[in-house]
Amino acid sequence: MSPEQFSSAVLDWFDRHGRHDLPWQQGITPYRVWVSEIMLQQTQVATVLGYYDRFMHALPTVEALAAAAEDEVLHLWTGLGYYSRARNLHRTAKIVVEQHGGEFPRSVDELAELPGIGRSTAGAIASISMGLRAPILDGNVKRVLARYQAQDGYPGEPKVAKRLWDTAERFTPRERVNHYTQAMMDLGATLCTRTRPSCLLCPLREGCRAHQLGRETDYPESKPR
Ligand code: ADE
Repeated sequence: MSPEQFSSAVLDWFDRHGRHDLPWQQGITPYRVWVSEIMLQQTQVATVLGYYDRFMHALPTVEALAAAAEDEVLHLWTGLGYYSRARNLHRTAKIVVEQHGGEFPRSVDELAELPGIGRSTAGAIASISMGLRAPILDGNVKRVLARYQAQDGYPGEPKVAKRLWDTAERFTPRERVNHYTQAMMDLGATLCTRTRPSCLLCPLREGCRAHQLGRETDYPESKPR
């Protein structure tokens, strides 16, 4: 499939089957998307749902978060785990307020300099909340792309990761990049699952090299030992 065919197939699937009702998809701002992406980094959607609204209600703006006591931030995070995420969230809010006038920087490179925001999270914030054509490559998307091109090698290897990033970049569309990003995450989370992918429902089935080979679960390779 050409990049246009690839992204069109993903977007059509999203229109028909994707989730459109998640709280961070409503009233989209960089702040709201950033908080959701940090929560979703190591926690599943179903769990995050219970925490997100409470967090947003208590700290509705980056200014409110920057001004909050660390205790309050950690308290709102209690149960989500990986508390360094909450500390980085607080640090980043202060940086955004003190050094960027309360506005999140509008480039992937600058976003990725903020504590707790890696390259993929920066891409998600930039594409979902700013409409910038920025690729993402979280664990779910790595799996989709590694299978799609039956890519050999462990994605923890820099050369393998580089090729996946290049692929992610090539397939990312100019139009509707916000929906495309959300769709790729949803595809990886709901259809292209680690152990039993639902290939019959997948919009990428026809072009998927791993599927053609009947070797979906051989990709991505696990860490060599
Ligand atoms: N995981 C990370 N970001 C996500 C998002 N925006 N939607 C669903 N799962 C995610």
